[in-house]
Amino acid sequence: MLIDNYQRQVNYLRISITDMCNLRCLYCQPKPEAGWKIHREILRYEEIIKLASLMVQLGIKRIRVTGGEPLIKKDVLLLIKGLARIDGLEELTLTTNGTKLAQFAEQLKENKVDRINISLDSLNRERYSSITGGGNLEDVLAGIDEALSVGLVPLKINMVVMKGINDDEVESFARLTLDKPVIVRFIEFMPISQQGVEWDERYLPAYILKQRLSSNFEIIKCNSVSHPVPLPKGREDNSVHGNGPAEYYQIKGAVGNIGFISPISDHFCVSCNRLRLTPDGHLRLCLGQDAEVDLKLPLRQGATDEELQRIITQAVWNKPAGHQFQLDRPTGRQMVAIGG
Ligand code: 5AD
Ligand code: SF4
Repeated sequence: MLIDNYQRQVNYLRISITDMCNLRCLYCQPKPEAGWKIHREILRYEEIIKLASLMVQLGIKRIRVTGGEPLIKKDVLLLIKGLARIDGLEELTLTTNGTKLAQFAEQLKENKVDRINISLDSLNRERYSSITGGGNLEDVLAGIDEALSVGLVPLKINMVVMKGINDDEVESFARLTLDKPVIVRFIEFMPISQQGVEWDERYLPAYILKQRLSSNFEIIKCNSVSHPVPLPKGREDNSVHGNGPAEYYQIKGAVGNIGFISPISDHFCVSCNRLRLTPDGHLRLCLGQDAEVDLKLPLRQGATDEELQRIITQAVWNKPAGHQFQLDRPTGRQMVAIGG
């Protein structure tokens, strides 16, 4: 079991497989001087699978593949296949911006991806394009439809809410749940490495959104969400929401759900169960802290499995208590190379 010195059990690994993306979301743009990592610094698929397997042996039960944008990476399905085959892994998920999803949804499903999250911050064509630096909303909407039609459900849509940029769309996003089996989650904007937008001006706490939504809709709190669509075999339990920190609601009569993720106003670090592997092979112990441990170097220098597992166990033990965004903003790594 992977456990840290605050007695938190770590069983969820997020793997950022690339620091490249086909979009340039305004809060995620790399600083110009940061550049992309050169190819040989990025873990190869067999290296990722090896590290992931070692971590599953140690107690990781769920893996999420992220980026950058994972679906632009060459032969990504080979990686997905390799991860899905890891003995003891209970759940494999993926976070994508959705632009390539229409092409990939069916193959993701076939290759044993359990669920996907889609990042989407506007339902307005022009605004979507401006927030994402040129993205095409139609591609994402087609991706959502395709994912639903191949049964990648429940499908989560994550919206980062920014005051004066897209907060007027919260009601439209909530309305998506009325007739689609989607879970729309409103995420508080975090002060991480963004360039194009000032956090202080744009942050909006989730409780304000909750108030706003409850004055426009009749919303009911959910303890465990009942799903309108059958879950994959063996996953009928609470694993659907088991990973994370969201709080869920349902608009009365709706098919889907809405959720709130409040990393700032109600931060959930005390129950954090996650670990991140960066594209260049570092274990990042907390999203909001730059503390990382290099695994690529020992891996490439021929460390044994036991040695690598010792490094991982020790790193997890030293996982920081939590982020301190209000005091100290992480500056070491761009969001695009962490993967949320
Ligand atoms: N605050 C909140 N969410 C963010 N994401 C990226 N940057 C931030 C930020 N500063 C989200 C993306 C995506 C996920 C990978 O992380 O929108 O949903
Ligand atoms: Fe790409 Fe996601 Fe960053 Fe947007 S937030 S630029 S989609 S990695």
